[in-house]
Amino acid sequence: MSHESLEATVDPAKVDAWIAELGSEPSAAVPLLQAIQTEYGYLPRPAMEMVIKNTQINASQLFGVATFYAQFRMNPVGRNMIKVCHGTACHVQGADRINTSLNHALGITDEEEDTAPNGSYTVEDVACIGCCSLAPLMIIGDQTFGNLKGSDAQRHLKKHAREHNEVLPGHAEQEKQKKKNKPGQQTAKA
Ligand code: FES
Repeated sequence: MSHESLEATVDPAKVDAWIAELGSEPSAAVPLLQAIQTEYGYLPRPAMEMVIKNTQINASQLFGVATFYAQFRMNPVGRNMIKVCHGTACHVQGADRINTSLNHALGITDEEEDTAPNGSYTVEDVACIGCCSLAPLMIIGDQTFGNLKGSDAQRHLKKHAREHNEVLPGHAEQEKQKKKNKPGQQTAKA
């Protein structure tokens, strides 16, 4: 699935201002990337190209730093973030099942993808966040949900989606399918 529709529009003036403020030496690579990501939520290609063109940082240095640090994202993020803890305790308690359940609701079918096709949510795996007694857990926005079992993850996600006017692509598809399969559905109106 392409992220094309989620790509940010880069403001060249902002990139110029960051370069003026943070410098154009190779040592400025990390702060520049941080500034770009803070603004856009990821590292848009046009912003990276501007940095390469207007500083002494070459492409291999910049992309080398961007891919070395886990904090940097090369792809656009959804409007809402979900963090799933994959520290040891959460992993043992079934963190993978949380991902599977969320991906199902979000219509994420490609293992390489972490963002719903409609840009509603991005699911990010994170290291231990220090609440191991609540394992397994996830964070949606600024809310933490722990001791997740079975369908808990989807239930919390659906509630968050309702409260934030988001549509869950996977869930919408299932509902459509259910209605289609319901006997007598077509005749109810007559
Ligand atoms: S392992 Fe998940 S909070 Fe520690």
